[in-house]
Amino acid sequence: MQIIVGALLIIVAIFLLLVILVGVFYAIDIFLDLPYVATKRHKIETIIKLAQIKKGETVVDLGSGDGRLLFAAAEKGAQARGYELNPFLIGLTLIHTKLKGLGNQIEIEKKNMWKADLKIADVIFVYSLKKSIKKFEDFVYKNATPGTRIVVNLHSFPDKKPIKVKDGIYLYKV
Ligand SMILES: C[S@@+](CC[C@H](N)C(=O)[O-])C[C@H]1O[C@@H](n2cnc3c(N)ncnc32)[C@H](O)[C@@H]1O
Repeated sequence: MQIIVGALLIIVAIFLLLVILVGVFYAIDIFLDLPYVATKRHKIETIIKLAQIKKGETVVDLGSGDGRLLFAAAEKGAQARGYELNPFLIGLTLIHTKLKGLGNQIEIEKKNMWKADLKIADVIFVYSLKKSIKKFEDFVYKNATPGTRIVVNLHSFPDKKPIKVKDGIYLYKV
């Protein structure tokens, strides 16, 4: 009987811990400009196609989530840098980077993306909600080097004309 009660207590404790962790994960989102929404596989393919990444180019993802775009860019030979504030997602990216052996190509900065160094980027990935798309447009056009390709997921920049559009992904050149 004591063993059953002990086992039940452990199960309840693990369940509560999971609930707390999931709660903290989503609570972090409340304080950020963008919630965590991962880009779907078919969209990643379109993003990578539109970006036309060449070996050795530098790619920056503004809000890199679990790092999936960084990995896709690294597979094309890029140096990929992600800016992310959610510690769970940073941890996940670091684990996958190690497992995939991409430590020399992927860098993850626990830093506010509005302080990102865009001068180093040949390609920038943006995933924005409607409310922050103008802020991204101004930020990128003010800080990136002329010629930088910007690949925007979900909403188009309000005041710039894309070079290409496919499956709700927009390609711009600064
Ligand atoms: C819509 S998700 C995109 C994730 C990833 N780029 C993808 O395409 O799968 C936005 C990410 O930005 C992060 N984020 C939101 N505000 C941020 C900020 N100010 N600085 C850095 N990261 C931020 C969130 O934690 C979230 O992971």
